[in-house]
Amino acid sequence: MAVKDKIVYQIYPKSFQDSNHDGWGDIRGVISRLDYLQELGINYIWFNPMVVSPQRDNGYDVADYRSFDPRYGTMEDFEELVSEAKKRGIDIMFDMVFNHTSTEHEWFKRALAGEEKYKNYYIWKKGKGPGVPPNNWQSKFAGSAWEYVEKFDEWYLHLFDVTQADLDWTNPEVRKECADIVNYWRSKGVHGFRFDVINLISKRSYEDDPNNYDGRQFYTDGPKEHEYLKELNLNSFGQDEEHLTVGEMSSTTIENCVQYAGKDCSELDMVFSFHHLKVDYKNQMKWELQPMDFMALKRLLSTWQVKMQEADAWNALFWNCHDQPRSISRFGNDKEYHKESGKMLAAALHMMRGTPYVYQGEEFGMTNACFTDISQYVDVESTNIYDVLLKQGKTKEEVLHILQERSRDNARTPMQWDDSENGGFSDVKPWLQSADSYKKINVANALKDPDSIFYFYQKLIKMRKEMPVVQEGLFIPLLEDHEKVFAYERKLNDESLICINNFFSEETEISLPLQDYEIILSNYQESALSDNMKLRPYETIIACRKQN
Ligand code: GLC
Repeated sequence: MAVKDKIVYQIYPKSFQDSNHDGWGDIRGVISRLDYLQELGINYIWFNPMVVSPQRDNGYDVADYRSFDPRYGTMEDFEELVSEAKKRGIDIMFDMVFNHTSTEHEWFKRALAGEEKYKNYYIWKKGKGPGVPPNNWQSKFAGSAWEYVEKFDEWYLHLFDVTQADLDWTNPEVRKECADIVNYWRSKGVHGFRFDVINLISKRSYEDDPNNYDGRQFYTDGPKEHEYLKELNLNSFGQDEEHLTVGEMSSTTIENCVQYAGKDCSELDMVFSFHHLKVDYKNQMKWELQPMDFMALKRLLSTWQVKMQEADAWNALFWNCHDQPRSISRFGNDKEYHKESGKMLAAALHMMRGTPYVYQGEEFGMTNACFTDISQYVDVESTNIYDVLLKQGKTKEEVLHILQERSRDNARTPMQWDDSENGGFSDVKPWLQSADSYKKINVANALKDPDSIFYFYQKLIKMRKEMPVVQEGLFIPLLEDHEKVFAYERKLNDESLICINNFFSEETEISLPLQDYEIILSNYQESALSDNMKLRPYETIIACRKQN
């Protein structure tokens, strides 16, 4: 399908809009906000899972792939959403969690009851000895990746929470079930699919990780990955053009991604990769803080752009999602330069080659949660790691500081619609506390201010829809050695667009031949181009070559 002019908006449904006074977002709440999304100009809404789930991992622990959790609403509500969205030119994308199911899923329950068929849906191994798991792999949410079941004297694999049992993709019945689920949602009018941690489905072998790491080298981008994706694609979509797919790729490589998201789209239309969001991880460790390594960020963004382009493969572009802290707090300056840095980050991303994803609240500069007590956190990863880090000898203050920077709950606080209680998300206590910033940073204020971050996003989105150079242009990195500025050109025939971004709160100088260019969008009132020029804090400039 034609993806190059599309923009996807991600809704974390639990936190978007509550319509029935239970502190929990729902489908009817989303329907009531569709006009806002239409005004922004997006084409697709990607929803995090709304199906039945014990919510240990907020819906990524699926207990029934085909029914809505009643807290989100009913199938009738969803049908109305599909048709109301369609009226506004918006399609729906669903999240398919196929690496694992909840242990509350009927398949797992029947497996535990001893039904061979369903036992074979999951990955079971003998331990190395009494009480010793099959290998030293660690769960992504801390602790061993194996859980013992006495009845079988075997362990099941869970790369995530103990209640998220990994499916065995070597079993053709599992693969068929997954394709059937995609087809089920297609029949309900869903045209987009995001496949959760999909590059973990093919396990290579079950050896000990010799580096005493978490074992990822044995289950990431595994040997049958491409084969499984091709099969899933064929069995779900056949020759149908009307769909859009994106795979979430955990710790992947460009070499694999050029295949996953290759031009023929026989596996996926595009991929999320995360390397650019680890530039503030010390030694690649999520829970070790360091300031952003800007040169690494530039290098990673450019390399992925260039290498994917060389192979004619397609990137998903994003700074934010429900698993990442807010980019404005992380790579921008959410205080003195809230507006400037919010716009700069947007421009830097939206003018690149790929499909931009906007995560709810990003479009008006929502910031990190700033929680000060562990009782405010809900996320299983955060609460688990809190205990682990304390045990490792860190003080409570140190650990809370790490969570303020890194917790996934930073992204999950309720959407800030206005300055009423709970930011207009709900009139009762929300499932996760609102960030205090809602009093100032909210949709109502953004819509009142013609110079807001919101209207800047609106312009960027319009540019992608209208300008072939943004959709198709070649990406060429500029100023590669500059220590403060990320800049690039997009080129299509004789059209040229340049995007220049100062990532810091200090002024800096650049030198580029800009005499033939004119500014089409920037984040300061008066900006003028010259071959040697100063950029102001977080200044962004998008300029096009003048047409003769
Ligand atoms: C993905 C999801 C994340 C979830 C995990 C396990 O990374 O984005 O939220 O916890 O997979 O399903």
